[in-house]
Amino acid sequence: MLRPLLFRLDAERAHQLGLLLARLWPTSLASRLGRGVGEADITCPPELATRVMGLDFPNPLGVAAGVDKDAQAATFWQALGFGFVEVGTVTALRQPGNPRPRVFRLPRDGALINRMGFPNDGADVVATRIERLRQHDALRVPLGINIGKSKAAAAADAAADYRRSFERLGELADFVVVNISSPNTPGLRDLQTVDQVQAIVDAVQQPNQQLEQPRPLLVKLAPDLADADALACAQAALTAGCAGLVVSNTSVDFSAVSADTQQMSGGLSGAPLFARSTALPGHLRAELGPAPVLIRVGGDMDAASAPAHLAPGRDLPPLSPGPVHVGASLPEGLLRELPAARAARA
Ligand SMILES: Cc1cc2nc3c(=O)[nH]c(=O)nc-3n(C[C@H](O)[C@H](O)[C@H](O)COP(=O)(O)O)c2cc1C
Repeated sequence: MLRPLLFRLDAERAHQLGLLLARLWPTSLASRLGRGVGEADITCPPELATRVMGLDFPNPLGVAAGVDKDAQAATFWQALGFGFVEVGTVTALRQPGNPRPRVFRLPRDGALINRMGFPNDGADVVATRIERLRQHDALRVPLGINIGKSKAAAAADAAADYRRSFERLGELADFVVVNISSPNTPGLRDLQTVDQVQAIVDAVQQPNQQLEQPRPLLVKLAPDLADADALACAQAALTAGCAGLVVSNTSVDFSAVSADTQQMSGGLSGAPLFARSTALPGHLRAELGPAPVLIRVGGDMDAASAPAHLAPGRDLPPLSPGPVHVGASLPEGLLRELPAARAARA
């Protein structure tokens, strides 16, 4: 209903309006958003419940980082039917991000290009917000917190900066995603080397291992890495004690889009990303075996992609573009399709 209105607005304003509505919308009504008049309540098929990283997920479909960077509407997403929420990217320091406009729709390609640069309230404010949710026992689904490097932190201080974010946020998360792959913070993707992955994960592990219950850590990778480089980073992360990987972030390869993108910079998401964000976790699974957790994300535009979620290499498939692209009915549609797709595969 809201989509025509939202599409008239600049993409980021539309997203902010969506988030504002999500925050204000009573969660008791939220679960009705994805349904037509007279349809039954969202019931999550019990066979979709899954236990991963020692956590119970009511279903494997989550909200990816970037949709709710500051953890403003976590209870809304769970009311829509999502089985987990990954908030962030949050940085140790509050920061404004890049100048606007910084999110661009490519409707013909079913894609977005963004160069947001991690605008966020900073670890302290987001932690206070999540503390409130925890105090009220408001979260029924696992909460992932995605942490990134503050723009002001020098490259040499990257590991310490990630550690600072973890110290404030780690204990409030069910799992933590270490983001080293967004294209819009200068130098961030250069952290995707074996040495840097090791240094950053080691730095985060120090406070993590002091917790009564250390949190599962995941590293988020770019789709633009060559298979061998992605594998090397993945192995470094696992050796340093990570539970797995999130694959993938946005791409800097715009060759698959038809729109004129010559003047654009940033990261591409949406339909053109589907093939690579499906192939790369498949490759990692084949090389790494069944043990590591692989969260696949990228290019899910409709419920027809449900069977792809069940291919080897995908444990938990979050969705990222939020209401702007997919509409509130997508999670429910996908959840409906998953059991049939799974049965067809068996
Ligand atoms: C506007 C926008 C903002 C994003 N912000 C973040 C972010 O802060 N941290 C992150 O790890 N990924 C971020 N992403 C990447 C998504 O989480 C996801 O990895 C990527 O968009 C591919 O999925 P999709 O094709 O389903 O959008 C963002 C994506 C978009 C479109």
